[in-house]
Amino acid sequence: MIIQPAKKLYGNLRLPGDKSISHRAGLLAALAKGDTRIENFASSADCAATLTCLKNLGVEIKRENSTVMIKGVGKTGFHQPTVLLDCENSGTTVRLLSGILAGQNFPSTLSGDDSLKKRPMGRVIEPLEKMGASIQSQNGFLPLVINGRSPLRAAILSSQAPSAQVKSCVLLAGLNADGVTVFSEKTQTRDHTERMLAWFGVKIIKNKTEGGDEIQIDGREELTARALQIPADVSSAAFFLVAAACLKNSKLTLENVGLNPTRTAILDVLQNCGVRVERAKERDVCNEPVGDLTVYGGEFAARETKDANVLRGATIANLIDELPILAVFGTQIESGLEIRDAAELRVKESDRIAAVVENLRRMGANVEEFPDGLRVEKSDLRGAQIESFGDHRIAMAFSIAALFATGESEIADADCVKVSFSEFYQVLKDAVQEN
Ligand code: S3P
Repeated sequence: MIIQPAKKLYGNLRLPGDKSISHRAGLLAALAKGDTRIENFASSADCAATLTCLKNLGVEIKRENSTVMIKGVGKTGFHQPTVLLDCENSGTTVRLLSGILAGQNFPSTLSGDDSLKKRPMGRVIEPLEKMGASIQSQNGFLPLVINGRSPLRAAILSSQAPSAQVKSCVLLAGLNADGVTVFSEKTQTRDHTERMLAWFGVKIIKNKTEGGDEIQIDGREELTARALQIPADVSSAAFFLVAAACLKNSKLTLENVGLNPTRTAILDVLQNCGVRVERAKERDVCNEPVGDLTVYGGEFAARETKDANVLRGATIANLIDELPILAVFGTQIESGLEIRDAAELRVKESDRIAAVVENLRRMGANVEEFPDGLRVEKSDLRGAQIESFGDHRIAMAFSIAALFATGESEIADADCVKVSFSEFYQVLKDAVQEN
């Protein structure tokens, strides 16, 4: 994909549905009793993989563009699959589905593509084994053979590292346990699973304790089908927010964006760096906060607040998917940007620290790599050959960087954007074309 520099982004965009919420919509609708109609389901290959796995578990699903109809089978109504469950590139699919399959009375095998096979699964194997499932893996990597047990043993568990996928896995396993499962996390991670379980009528108890947030789920709870509308994905919006912020005279409105506070740390970072981002029409839709965002370009250079350009600690969990595009943003702000405490980025769809550093250097940026992050200085970017490493967020982050570089850039294997946002290049072209 060839990207030319652009002057500004302009107009109103309605981006596709949130990837995290769409996964949960598919899985929870399948676990529910009754039929669920899901609107604005993500245009993401990862979320399609979740639906395919569910079909292979005997769930009846009809899809027409972004509308998905699911006939719920209840918590234990799945059929033993006759094929391997292919989670493709999707960590969320394998980790959340493991929680469901651990509580079924049949064995199943989960695998994925070469990238997913390199990602650690010990983080879900360990808690699920504590709950009584038996899981075989390749030394903590895919494929996983899950020998489920119904019911599982309710347990008191905590997260070793912040992960919404691990938390969600345990909560979904807890739905098929013989009592109350308690999960605590020191750092709050995205809470879409808890919110959607509540939307489907499940009682979720949350307590703030000294050790962090404690969440309780009772294995006697049932889910009742209920229509869902998915907001636009704030992690996809992030690419357009940064692009518009960095291109002078831009004014871009992103409509109907998910504004869950566990996902909007990107807005705080941009605002602390002086970017003008306005929120409008804020409301709750299906238990998730939603609103419109308008971002104005090029007004931030002189207005960074102290330390706004150092990202570390608890906020990292709520920015985790936005760090590649924020590193690109760092090349455009006066004091550059430093990211620390983010070693988790090395086990995402690619080693995102190495991938970002490599591509920033190709574009001429001055960047230093740390085991847990990087620091980039304000830099004039030049067009370059970009390596996506097959990682959708790397391809999109550097497509945006290419907009404010001099000369054209070429993104290799750009097709990988379909993992989260298949229409990305068309939407970008339309926003740029209005110049
Ligand atoms: C996700 C959680 C995050 C995130 C991923 C989606 C989710 O992963 O990076 O893109 O939907 O729960 P971790 O739980 O590994 O932090």
